[in-house]
Amino acid sequence: MKHLVIIAHHNAESFTHAIAGIVQNTLSAAGHEVVVRDLNAIGFNPVLSSADTVAIRAGQTPEDIRVEQAHLTWADAVTVVHPVWWTGMPAILKGYIDRVFTYGFAYAYGPNGREGLLAGRKVLVFSSHGHPDFVYRDMGMHDALRLTSDEGIWRFSGLEVADHVFFGAVPSASAEDRAGYLAQVKQTVQRHFG
Ligand SMILES: Cc1cc2nc3c(=O)[nH]c(=O)nc-3n(C[C@H](O)[C@H](O)[C@H](O)COP(=O)(O)O)c2cc1C
Repeated sequence: MKHLVIIAHHNAESFTHAIAGIVQNTLSAAGHEVVVRDLNAIGFNPVLSSADTVAIRAGQTPEDIRVEQAHLTWADAVTVVHPVWWTGMPAILKGYIDRVFTYGFAYAYGPNGREGLLAGRKVLVFSSHGHPDFVYRDMGMHDALRLTSDEGIWRFSGLEVADHVFFGAVPSASAEDRAGYLAQVKQTVQRHFG
């Protein structure tokens, strides 16, 4: 299976990168082809501009967007790894969606209404956050995040959401807790793509 891993974090020492490393190793060990797009490392420009929209409407999608769209087209499955920042995804990932998930590429409106054009692909999402897990679960924040990203972005674009896993209290987590989280990452990847 061809698997695209998208990382949204500026710090290579972050827990986000630790998760992404386990995802990559687990997929490679299972024989999958893996391509990693570390949005900060590649310096992805997340700001949708009027020049972008003019070019896209004219059928001349800017090169940096076309490159990312080609990776998505290539992939059978996508894993997205990001921390929760201000109850959403980091701006670089939101801007990646803004610029790459364009009309005519990720979705379109036809005679039967809206069509998700990335259908046939799965997406697996890992999100870490600072609040303890039970706090975000009990206040409905996990449901809110699932609604806005799983429903509003991934399923909207036709992707099948395999799972969206949250890890709480990451900044204060013990080494043991972190090891447990990473073991859970490995098991989740193996369960869906092993
Ligand atoms: C800009 C910023 C915004 C944040 N907003 C939230 C938030 O809304 N909710 C939360 O629980 N944690 C929040 N955090 C904490 C991060 O989610 C947490 O530090 C991160 O998941 C730890 O993983 P990392 O090592 O990959 O950064 C925020 C952190 C930063 C830097």
